[in-house]
Amino acid sequence: MSKKSFYVTTPIYYVNAEPHIGHAYTTVIADFLARWHRLAGYDSYFLTGTDEHGEKIAQAAQKAGEKPQEFVDRVSARFKEAWGKLCIEYDDFIRTTEPRHKKIVQEILQKVYDSGDIYYGEYEGYYCVGCERFLTEKELVEGRCSDHGMAPERRKEGNYFFRMEKYREWLRDYINEHPEFIRPEGYRNEVLSMLSEPIGDLSISRPRERVPWGIPLPWDKNHVTYVWFDALINYVSALGYPDSEKFERYWNCAWHLIGKDIIKPHAIFWPTMLKAAGIPIYKHLNVGGFLMGPDGRKMSKTLGNVVDPFDLSEKYGPDVVRYYLLSDVPYGQDASVGEQYLVARYNTDLANDLGNLLSRTITMIEKFSGGEIPAPGEKAGTDDELISMAESLPEKLEALIRRMELNAAIKEIWRFIGRANKYIDESMPWSLAKDPDKKERLNTVLYNLAEALRITAVHISPIMPNVPAKILEQLGAEDSSLSTWESVKKWGQLPAGLKVSRKGILFPRLEEAKKDEAAGVKQEAKAAQEAKPKVQEEPVNIITIEDFTKVQLRVAQVLEAERIKGADKLLKLQVKIGDERRQIVAGIAKHYAPEELVGKKIVVVANLKPAKLRGEESQGMLLAASNEEGLSLITVDRDIDSGARVK
Ligand code: MSP
Repeated sequence: MSKKSFYVTTPIYYVNAEPHIGHAYTTVIADFLARWHRLAGYDSYFLTGTDEHGEKIAQAAQKAGEKPQEFVDRVSARFKEAWGKLCIEYDDFIRTTEPRHKKIVQEILQKVYDSGDIYYGEYEGYYCVGCERFLTEKELVEGRCSDHGMAPERRKEGNYFFRMEKYREWLRDYINEHPEFIRPEGYRNEVLSMLSEPIGDLSISRPRERVPWGIPLPWDKNHVTYVWFDALINYVSALGYPDSEKFERYWNCAWHLIGKDIIKPHAIFWPTMLKAAGIPIYKHLNVGGFLMGPDGRKMSKTLGNVVDPFDLSEKYGPDVVRYYLLSDVPYGQDASVGEQYLVARYNTDLANDLGNLLSRTITMIEKFSGGEIPAPGEKAGTDDELISMAESLPEKLEALIRRMELNAAIKEIWRFIGRANKYIDESMPWSLAKDPDKKERLNTVLYNLAEALRITAVHISPIMPNVPAKILEQLGAEDSSLSTWESVKKWGQLPAGLKVSRKGILFPRLEEAKKDEAAGVKQEAKAAQEAKPKVQEEPVNIITIEDFTKVQLRVAQVLEAERIKGADKLLKLQVKIGDERRQIVAGIAKHYAPEELVGKKIVVVANLKPAKLRGEESQGMLLAASNEEGLSLITVDRDIDSGARVK
């Protein structure tokens, strides 16, 4: 049977900026996917590259005092260098200034022009150079581009247009019929909503005299190709469209990875362009969220909250940075990133869970089995549980990864590592070792631990490419047949008799690395992890207005307040709500003295089922704001009679 193919792409990055964490994040994911698919037996192909034409790049070159070509050569090389630092292994790196790309762009343009889907017209609109496209009125926030914060320029010029609107209904139907086409789902809905109204035709050229830095239109040399029409084609030009073997092999299974800011060009321009050119459309558009600074704000040099993945990689190694980005950022959502969060993850997942499993296992094999992995005996205890978890892992991971649920996939691997650590505690090899009659059981336990580690090493290889060799070396399991996908599907492939050897600690806890300045960060790390601002997370509980109106909030005036004996946190209040008098028990004694409260008008939930607290009936609940620093009652800021509704 021939192998299933897998083709993954990143956006091609504009060379007006140095590689940064936003670029690194998507590229690490693509590399992970490419490696995982290769491991799982797919014929895997990974493309990245740089986007080198257009106004933005020409302006940047000018600012740098360089000729455009020199400039793009220099910055494009910086991207290649950066990917080396994160162990990114792409199969191809395309640059839009390469002849192989320019040729295909011109061929596709000509094809669409000949079919009648390109016409000449005048266009007037708001152009954002940051986005390199015209923005609709709707996309402006107070007259500015919401992504770039600049006011777009009003432009009127003669352009060639692509009849994009013609394909709108077809695209909408396609997306409706293929729910997995754009994911996560929220972004699919965003695109469907864009398509529910006219999208208009797309201006696909720029006058050459204004923007000379681009690919000339084949039929009119006075115009150059619009940068998005040029750039998107990289995904097929790199494969050697139209008649290469690679194109045949990979195009029908293409997964594009992008950030949420470039969804429109990928979800609307690109499929309609493909359709018009008679090229089948790609398989999946995977949309990632934005990485924010540790403080939850957009990263910027001015705010000083820029997180540099290349510095982190230098300090902690590429594997740790990759593990951190892949495990800590929920795919599709915005998330805060920062060194302190990386350190927290390192200490819990890598040093504690994985590192300890390895060092405990090697120590016990050395101590109780003369440094040799023993042959297992009969199964007993929780062996079956451990084994079945290992054997079901490949299938589970495949399902999750193919659905782009990457964090969940990594969690599954760590659940297995956790299970193996628990297995040590349950089986207590140290006490088995004291009883010669239990030698066979001891051998089984030690074997199973070594086998669990081998399997783990294979599963983590797409995440941390350099770590598995270190684990396998300590287990003496360096034979490549022990690292295949087939070898992790069936328990017991690790041969007995291998010699283990300790080679230092795999992930020293960062607090122990005293000289390392990261140690200082560590103390705060756990707390930081917990307090981490999650930006735009999936709201936990969306309620409707009907839900909200079920809660009856009213103004109440405190008539009396007293402490409750034996309950140092509680105060008992008598309050007046209109004509009604009620008793409310509240946990505010640490923050307010009873006498402070009398006369205050506060807000209470008036229709709460009464409850007894320390034997005292509470007929409602008061509202207060609180954090670690204290508590403050919600009051009304103008005089209003008690009983008034709060809405
Ligand atoms: N050149 C275009 C893409 C053309 S693809 C045919 C482009 N380049 S870019 O360099 O500006 O951005 C590339 C990607 O980086 C985008 O997907 C964008 O979402 C991503 N990121 C830039 N900053 C980011 C974060 N802070 N966080 C996550 N990704 C972000 O657009």
